[in-house]
Amino acid sequence: MQEYSEKIESAEALKVLEEVRIEVFGKKGVLAEQFAKMKSVPNEEKKEFAKNLNIQKAKLTALFDKKKTELIKHESILMMKEGAIDVTLFNGINEAGSLHPINETMNKMIDYFVSMNFSIEEGPLIEDDFHNFEALNLPDFHPARDMQDTFFFNDKKLLRTHTSPVQIRTMMSQKPPIRMICPGTVFRRDFDITHTPMFHQIEGLVVEEEGKVSFSHLKYILEDFLKFMFGDVEVRFRPSFFPFTEPSTEVDISCIFCKGEGCRVCSHTGWLEVLGAGMVDINVFKAVGYENVSGYAFGMGIERIAMLIHQIPDLRSMFDGDVRLLEQFR
Ligand code: DAH
Repeated sequence: MQEYSEKIESAEALKVLEEVRIEVFGKKGVLAEQFAKMKSVPNEEKKEFAKNLNIQKAKLTALFDKKKTELIKHESILMMKEGAIDVTLFNGINEAGSLHPINETMNKMIDYFVSMNFSIEEGPLIEDDFHNFEALNLPDFHPARDMQDTFFFNDKKLLRTHTSPVQIRTMMSQKPPIRMICPGTVFRRDFDITHTPMFHQIEGLVVEEEGKVSFSHLKYILEDFLKFMFGDVEVRFRPSFFPFTEPSTEVDISCIFCKGEGCRVCSHTGWLEVLGAGMVDINVFKAVGYENVSGYAFGMGIERIAMLIHQIPDLRSMFDGDVRLLEQFR
């Protein structure tokens, strides 16, 4: 058995050790052969013979296990060394990365509003009931709360369902005049071809001394903005309802695919809805303690606009992390 102990000891690779394993421990291996000899050993010697053999087997097994552990360690270090990336090496391939279509669209939107002298504000993703609903004229039990399926942590904490709470935070921490946008992530319990539980919005808010801003300012800036984003489109304002604005409007552009003729994308209406807006409701100003001011606000989904611009059919593909999507936007 000494011979086999040496064979195990001297194995330099797992592959070699495996060969030794078969030779020693295999079905037709040395040990099996020895145990088979039991039959021909006289009865009075059987006990001694078996005991001896079992001791040999245990020794070899222990040796084998130890060697195996050693070799696994050794070989994985070798593998890691071989696979290591030399970051100092120049590979000569000059492939530029690309912005995600959402970032690219968001950047373009921000460019427009910054050029119009809007500041960029931020707010927390984990909001409270007051900023996300209450102060936006959505009191408890207000039926409009049903419009938004919310992820709640508990009674009072939630993932913000829109960027509108940043309006509230900005008004409470600054004095008018205010001219802000807030791009950011929002969350709703929704998942299908045009909805994901996480998406992005841009909120806008302008507040001035009473009488200094009117619906016509809102109309001008949104029309100008949409032409900046989509080129030569027609813009249409439809009356609508939001709890935080009065009057409220939903804004459409003429369908960029069929030029207003009617197609599948615009459900044969010739129009695509792109944002919501309105004059800030007096109750919102009351909630933040503002008096004698007027203002307008607007909000829109960034994904929706990116999907339209790039003709991306399934919103979910934006978050699959498939590099082939990004490669199309290089
Ligand atoms: N918060 C609205 C939403 O998530 C979007 C919105 C509509 C924001 C009108 C506004 C607004 O500021 O005036 O659907």
